[in-house]
Order: sequence, then C-alpha cells, then structure tokens
Amino acid sequence: MEFNDKTISQNLNTKILGQKIFFFKSIKSTMDYAKKLAEKGEPEGTVVIADYQSHGRGRFGRIWKSEPEKNILMSLILRPTIPIEKFGILSFLTSISIAEAIEKNADVEITTKWPNDLLINGKKYCGILLEASITVEMGDFVIIGIGVNVNQENFPKEIQDYATSLYIETGKIFDRTLIVQDILRLLEENYSALKETHNFQFVIENWKKRCDMLGKKIMVIQGGKTITGKAIDVDERGFLLLEDENSNLLKLSAGDVTIVK
Ligand code: BTN
Repeated sequence: MEFNDKTISQNLNTKILGQKIFFFKSIKSTMDYAKKLAEKGEPEGTVVIADYQSHGRGRFGRIWKSEPEKNILMSLILRPTIPIEKFGILSFLTSISIAEAIEKNADVEITTKWPNDLLINGKKYCGILLEASITVEMGDFVIIGIGVNVNQENFPKEIQDYATSLYIETGKIFDRTLIVQDILRLLEENYSALKETHNFQFVIENWKKRCDMLGKKIMVIQGGKTITGKAIDVDERGFLLLEDENSNLLKLSAGDVTIVK
C-alpha cells in the first residue's frame, strides 16, 4: 500500500489540515522539521510525515522508536487563537480525534490515559507530543506530534508489556493513508468547533468518557517524584485532580500515570 504526500492528499477534502504535506522516507524527527517550517511562516495545518525517524522523541525527552514503514509519525502546525497557556487543551482534542479516527477504521475500544496517551486493552498504541513556541514575527504556534503504532508486529522486550499496535490487537494490516486522512478530517472538525465555541469543557467531557482511571488508585511519577492517591477528576484546563494519601487535593499538570491494582 503506497503511503506518501500524494496518496494522503487524494480525496482528503479538508480545508486546513493537510493542505500542505511534507513527506520523508526518513527524517531525524518530524517535530524539528515542522518547527522550522512554522518559524519560516508555513501556514496552520501544514503536516510533516515520515516513514522513519532516526531521532523520534516522546514526552520527558524519551526516545520514540518505530520500525520503518509500519506506523504513523507526523507533526502538525497549528496557530491557535487561544492564549498559549491554554494550548494544553489541544492534546485532549487530538486524543479524542485520533480515538474517533481509529474506531472508524478498526474494531477496537480505545481508552485515554492522562494526559495524552491512547490505549487498547490497557496498552499504549498512540502518543501525542505538544510543543508550543512563542515568536515575535510569526506569532505563537504549536507543533502537535502524533505517533500511532499501526502495523508493527512486535516491540522490544522492555516495552512489550506496555506497547501495542493496531495489528497486534486485531491481526489486521491497515492502510495508513486512510487512517491519516481520518485523523486530519476529525481533528479539523473538532478544532474548528473548539475555535468557534471555546467550549473546553466539552472536549474534556468527551475525553473523560474514554478514561478509565477516574475514581481509581493511581501512581503519578512527576520529575523523579512519585505521588500515590485517588484520581478524582480532570478539570477544564486538563489538570489532574488527585487526592493524596493525606487527603490533600493536588492539581497536577504533567506526569506519568499507572493504575495501582
Ligand atoms: C509520547 O507518548 O511520549 C509522545 C510520542 C510522540 C511521538 C511522535 S512521532 C511523530 C513526532 N515526531 C517525534 O519525534 N515525536 C512525535
């Protein structure tokens, strides 16, 4: 199945996302390339997509490894009109859009894990990375990095218990073009609605419907510190409200969550 800028553009029918697509067989990281393009003034909606990344990265400076030609590795440029301190909502918006796109293509049930992982049967198949920049000349912009494990058949031993792909969960090979197109369409739809309504609560409520950790005992690792407590809620700004073991209510903006069994 061919996969490149041309196949993705064909019948895409979006107005903003994917109007310009930069495709690479191999690149260091689509994040850096998209950032350079944004700094040079490339418009909102520009997509950088690759078959392979030699230096793909995840949250907290981690490495994002992906076998060549199996998965979706892309970064999008957005120039939101909301204030930069509220850009975090976009990772929740991206999560629900990807979940909707995947459920359209595969017979799976998707859950969300705070702040921006997508899981199938408790294992992660998609990660999202948000990098915001402030520039005087080009205004504020955000690069949304999306890594979806689609057709990869196995993962290194160290992460086998946590990582999965659509192929592993369904036994089917997927056409990446169709999935990328649906992600772009659904994200555009949800992004346009958010721009129009500024209804952050709607996005969070939608995200929470897929989240199965609320009300449960969890462990959050944050900058080398571990906090254990009960996940109470995720607020309109995307902060996690956690009741710690001394009954203090904490508001967390980032971290790695594990459900304690
Ligand atoms: C995470 O869960 O830690 C986020 C992973 C984000 C990975 C994607 S793959 C495309 C884009 N380019 C990168 O280098 N990272 C993001």
